[in-house]
Amino acid sequence: MNTINRSRRNFIKTSGALALGSTLPVSLVELAFAGTGENFTFAYISDSHIQHIKGAQFVRNWDRGLIRAVAETNLLTPKPDFVVFGGDLAQLGTKAELDHGAEMLSGLSGKVYHVMGEHDYYLDLGEYWEKLFGPQFYSFDHKGVHFVVLNSIKTYDDWTFKRWPTAEQRMHEMAGLDNPNGSPFMVGEEQRKWLKNDLAKVAKSTPVVVFSHSPLQKIYKGWNFWTEDADEIQALLKPFKQASVIYGHVHQIQYNQIGSISFNSVMATAWPWPYPQSYAQAEQYLPKLTVPMNRADPFFERDATGWQFINVATGRVDLNYTLYNNNGRVVRFNTNKRPEDSVYAGESQRIPPQNHY
Ligand SMILES: [Fe+2]
Ligand SMILES: [Fe+2]
Repeated sequence: MNTINRSRRNFIKTSGALALGSTLPVSLVELAFAGTGENFTFAYISDSHIQHIKGAQFVRNWDRGLIRAVAETNLLTPKPDFVVFGGDLAQLGTKAELDHGAEMLSGLSGKVYHVMGEHDYYLDLGEYWEKLFGPQFYSFDHKGVHFVVLNSIKTYDDWTFKRWPTAEQRMHEMAGLDNPNGSPFMVGEEQRKWLKNDLAKVAKSTPVVVFSHSPLQKIYKGWNFWTEDADEIQALLKPFKQASVIYGHVHQIQYNQIGSISFNSVMATAWPWPYPQSYAQAEQYLPKLTVPMNRADPFFERDATGWQFINVATGRVDLNYTLYNNNGRVVRFNTNKRPEDSVYAGESQRIPPQNHY
């Protein structure tokens, strides 16, 4: 435990120092095992939405978000074992955007694992992305933890292959958050079969951490905060004593617990999305979240941007968020065996959801 405590103090010291000068959406993940396994950390950057204007011009704000995240990640102490990029590197999936994003990410020291986002995918169905970053789904083991990366943003073949006259139009239709012409995300049969085989080789006592772009839970279909076959993926994860899903795409802090599976989102380097609950006029499938959450101001431009580190004690995930105006927010796996916001757990502390019409 001494090692763990020392390590946590280091993180807190580091996070405090970084918080003074930074609002960066970088997750630093620490995996700490009491008694078994080996402590380690990794960082998480997501949703940079690098957007090409013309020639050598790109949207500066999104560039700056990623550049700063890369710089801060390289400064982390202790040095993370690896970095994950959580998808939506590009805005419209072009070579120019993916190349520019890859160039910025190449500044990271150490191994980077990549997750496919819908903004990276729907122009050429991941062809160029694969050339730059490798396979769209895979798994790896690191110091006693089994990590799985899924492409969760596929959809029905009819929509992908038959509905749109051009690849550009297909990309534009999927790029809109609330576009009714979009189509629900899914992992799909091929990856579900692969995942079943992959997990069959893993002991049920091994902590499993899944990285996806969309949430592997059904939150809000209207904005594709949703994965159509989430229930089937959850069924595959259910037998594991400690399963965690970390996802991007929603550009906001979310957490939930379904059975033995913890769900936590990471923030975007580009911009925050508002909360689906604030859009009362749209059809909603939720709140179905089993854990009440604080809802901050969706129209505050820095809301849901900041940086965080995540500690996984005994294989469970604790997220430590440092928000621009909201220091010290911690969502930890508590004794009731679910994520809890340590500051906003009480009803009276929460900021109520706002309705926008
Ligand atoms: Fe995104
Ligand atoms: Fe996305």
